[in-house]
Amino acid sequence: MRQFLAANWKMHLYPIEALHLTTALHKGWERHGWTLPAVLFPPAIYLRELVALLSNSRLQVGAQNGYPGEFGAFTGEVSMAQLAHIGVKWVLIGHSERRQHFGETGPLLRRKLQDAQQRGLSVIYCVGETLAQREAGQTFDVLQVQLEEVLSDGAIAWDRFVLAYEPVWAIGTGVHATPQQAQEVHAFLRAQLARLGAPAEGICVVYGGSLKPSAALELFSQPDVDGGLVGGASLEASSFLQIAQALLQARS
Ligand code: PGA
Repeated sequence: MRQFLAANWKMHLYPIEALHLTTALHKGWERHGWTLPAVLFPPAIYLRELVALLSNSRLQVGAQNGYPGEFGAFTGEVSMAQLAHIGVKWVLIGHSERRQHFGETGPLLRRKLQDAQQRGLSVIYCVGETLAQREAGQTFDVLQVQLEEVLSDGAIAWDRFVLAYEPVWAIGTGVHATPQQAQEVHAFLRAQLARLGAPAEGICVVYGGSLKPSAALELFSQPDVDGGLVGGASLEASSFLQIAQALLQARS
């Protein structure tokens, strides 16, 4: 069954808070006996600790960023090889905040994705249009370019690939896409994945952007919305657990 949940902590939390949140989520998964696949994406300084804390957990650990390669003169960067070496299983690629604030574009994202997978990491690749692009009727064109420039003609390990639709206008704004808007785009993205040679029916396409417990059930009830990439609402154990519950309910 297609279901997948991710928590993007972004640049938040002090060590004690990260520890408490991780422990509470692990206990929540244990208490319910959930097998729902979920990945926590903490700031890089907490990766090692989370890998150790969650070694016997259903919850996995991912990095919010990584640089292609093993070692090199790239001050400030952490390589995909280093991430894989310490037991990180996932990496986020193409998040709109990386595109917007750090100038990451297609060619680099393509290298990141290919290098990450070659080193055994699984990838969440994020795509999404801005409000101006949506209002100009360019949503599908923008998404198609974002998919093609990173996924076409590459040797993609589709069994270690999740696609996240994150409309930029919904991220951190409190305004999420409507279930109809999300479904329309997710169905389009799945069709594009098929066109690019992916086994699209088996690939999780998850939604992100102001995803809250109150909106989760209706969003996850759409046939092509297979889960979520949760930012703000993943910083509190109770709201992330409620979102997990909604996903399980929608898919039961
Ligand atoms: P948000 O962030 O849930 O706080 O909108 C989602 C994301 O950027 O991954």
